[in-house]
Amino acid sequence: MPENEKFYITTPIYYPSDKLHIGHAYCTVCTDAMARYKRLQGCDVMFLTGTDEHGQKIETKAREAGVEPQEFVDRIVDGPKGVKDLWELMNISNDRFIRTTDPYHVKAIQKIFRAMYDKGDIYKGKYVGKYCKDCEAFWTETQLVDGKCPDCGREVQDAEEEAYFFRLSKYADRIRHLLEDTDFLEPRSRVHEMVNNFIKPGLEDLCVSRTSFTWGVPVDFDPGHVVYVWVDALFNYMTALGFQNDQYHDYDKYWPADVHFVGKEIVRFHSIIWPAFCMSLDLPLPKKVYGHGWLLLDGGKMSKSKGNVVDPYVLAEKFGVDALRFFLLRTFPFGSDGNFSNELLIQTINTDLANDLGNLLSRTTAMAEKYFPDGLPADQAEDAGKDAELIGMASSLRDKYEAAMEKYQFQDALSEIFKVIDRANKYIDENAPWALAKDMEANGARLGRVLYNLLETLRICTVLLSPFMPDTAEAIFGQLGTCESCGGCSKTWESAKVWGTLTSTVAVHKGENLFPRIDADKAIAELEAAAEAAKKAALPALEIEPFATENVDFDTFCKSDFRAVKVKACEAVKKSEKLLKFTLDDGTGTDRQILSGIHKWYEPADLVGKTLVAIVNLPPRKMMGLESCGMLLSAVHTEKGEEVLHLIMVDDAIPAGAKLC
Ligand code: MSP
Repeated sequence: MPENEKFYITTPIYYPSDKLHIGHAYCTVCTDAMARYKRLQGCDVMFLTGTDEHGQKIETKAREAGVEPQEFVDRIVDGPKGVKDLWELMNISNDRFIRTTDPYHVKAIQKIFRAMYDKGDIYKGKYVGKYCKDCEAFWTETQLVDGKCPDCGREVQDAEEEAYFFRLSKYADRIRHLLEDTDFLEPRSRVHEMVNNFIKPGLEDLCVSRTSFTWGVPVDFDPGHVVYVWVDALFNYMTALGFQNDQYHDYDKYWPADVHFVGKEIVRFHSIIWPAFCMSLDLPLPKKVYGHGWLLLDGGKMSKSKGNVVDPYVLAEKFGVDALRFFLLRTFPFGSDGNFSNELLIQTINTDLANDLGNLLSRTTAMAEKYFPDGLPADQAEDAGKDAELIGMASSLRDKYEAAMEKYQFQDALSEIFKVIDRANKYIDENAPWALAKDMEANGARLGRVLYNLLETLRICTVLLSPFMPDTAEAIFGQLGTCESCGGCSKTWESAKVWGTLTSTVAVHKGENLFPRIDADKAIAELEAAAEAAKKAALPALEIEPFATENVDFDTFCKSDFRAVKVKACEAVKKSEKLLKFTLDDGTGTDRQILSGIHKWYEPADLVGKTLVAIVNLPPRKMMGLESCGMLLSAVHTEKGEEVLHLIMVDDAIPAGAKLC
């Protein structure tokens, strides 16, 4: 029992983004479940998260938004539906939140940079290579995949500038030993990736300063240089505890971190570069880095630029935060990639929560309330033959759960809980409490015991579910009548292993249905409509076609004969959805017929009498069997993804046939 043991756990610090998606929430929800589990065990937990706010990418985005970088990041971190709001929505219980623009962090980074420089691990040189702006990562030619960034697949830029370098190569052997001979990095598959892709080809020194932009921590002894964003970012795990600053004083208590949870694409930074930095400063290494997989959508990574992100706000509003947290933790093995889909989400909620847990809870509490409104009887009759299996499973659940949780296998821990829930549902059917209730005098004591066993099983499961669904667990405890007399002792980690903790004469309070069944077809249609609307809303308000880059010479231009024409008649072409047939007065005395695919924007009757512009020396063309002699001019642009067209209408005072030039 790790009572009062310290446990320091971190998420990566997030790039401020105005569109954090369910994939981002995944890592933080998993970290939160782990932190809550450790608190349940009695550990002294420090759970850190935050934002990684420097770098060229932010500087560029701020410029595009027309604001200073600080204002830009403030808005995204603290603003409505920003990073902090999202964590509040997801019920994240972080103890601390660091922003890399916090002044105490900035000053600490300057001291750290200087310390590595003084040690001789940072030296000045010239950087020639490739840089991925999106990943803020430098690459050598050989690391590129098809000439593109090996992490995100985007184009890289040539980079050449005076820069400081960190002697990463010096630590290659120690890092290799750390990876191969210890369990510093998990899951094991990530070790092979790191060793094969980065260590074996030879670790090169790392460029750790930039001069081509200013939004970063300035190198205090060499103006013009800013510290490479990953140096700034990785040390957050220490500065947030008070390392090299006076803002906090917990470094000695909590460092080294017990585990850094990170997504697989940033394992390289955490398992190679980060321990090397710690080695350089002779600081203890974090105990573990766990590289989790990605939540994919249609087999690919979610990303704002692909427009395929899933909005946690929409899902939480629709299904509830706890159901969403539960789904993320229950469905995807933490170390591997998983495919997100609305169907899977709804299926998981309906199967596990509505059917299995929901049914067990509502059947048990409904029967207990109906048969024993004043509390279960003190006199209860055991039936060892019928009860032993359920009691055995519930009593041994905590150990199995703990074994899975210690390996960060949330899915397995939940699976163990649901085996017990499943068994309890069968126990109801086997013992048919409704049949026992028919003769209370003969069977009341047995009925009391059956219901007690069910309530006690539910209590144990709920204690262990609480790190995953904190609010729901409290609501279940309320319905079970847990702790009304004991003052909290039946919600503890200790009690999850002690069968019989619940007061035997407990009175339940059947409350609202905590897990209503979801109508899958309806919910999916609504989600798809919401996604479509969000996609549209994210489209640029107004888009105009790029201008032609090729010049046209004046004589060629003059060959086009533009004339004012008056609409004498206009009708829709039969069997065509698009075409309108115009009969036009072009000033020659003979009617001119032009067909135009604009029915989507105009009703024919509205155009009669208008003065339009036509190019009249195009060769005649047949459309739907009708001849079109020329083309009407219109203006087109795109609005929220929809093409918009306006016919060019000119002053009615212009006579038919007037030449436009
Ligand atoms: N700022 C760096 C981390 C610095 S830590 C010293 C960063 N930020 S991030 O915002 O891009 O990503 C934060 C975390 O979200 C990463 O662990 C990343 O893997 C995770 N995820 C982003 N999209 C994800 C999915 N689709 N699925 C799972 N996790 C994903 O990297």
